[in-house]
Amino acid sequence: MFESTVVLIKPDGVLMGVGERIIERYLMSKLGLHKRRDIYFSLRQAETFYGEHAGRFYFPGLVLAMTSGPSIAMVLQGENAVARVRELNGATNPSKAVPGTIRHDFRSAGGPFNTVHGSDSVEAARREMDVVFWNLI
Ligand code: CDP
Ligand code: MG
Repeated sequence: MFESTVVLIKPDGVLMGVGERIIERYLMSKLGLHKRRDIYFSLRQAETFYGEHAGRFYFPGLVLAMTSGPSIAMVLQGENAVARVRELNGATNPSKAVPGTIRHDFRSAGGPFNTVHGSDSVEAARREMDVVFWNLI
């Protein structure tokens, strides 16, 4: 299925200076860059973007991490783009991510800091686009 998915180089990834190298990986694996913007998440944007995690123990730290600096937001497109991005990203916890994945090779501190985001589903991608590209919140 041809899909669109939302990818973020999160603030920790941007601060590590590895954004362009990560973006190259997506492009090298034949995902198309449909949109790109720099975005500095407001509190409201971060809370909405990760709204389904509200109430979890890690939510406050996640929101703090997302508002700690600028992110690079992208829409990537291609066959099975959602799953392919998540495979390239690797495990949520960087210490469990395997070599060759972004979260392993560009390892961040863990907890909320795991370098990148990739949408969980096509529906989630649409909601995320409303926040980061269409300013609908
Ligand atoms: O990002 P991914 O879809 O792999 O994971 P998630 O379960 O949807 O969680 C969203 C984000 O919350 C993660 O990427 C982490 O930044 C953060 N998180 C956390 O800080 N602690 C956890 N135990 C789980 C997630
Ligand atoms: Mg997720």
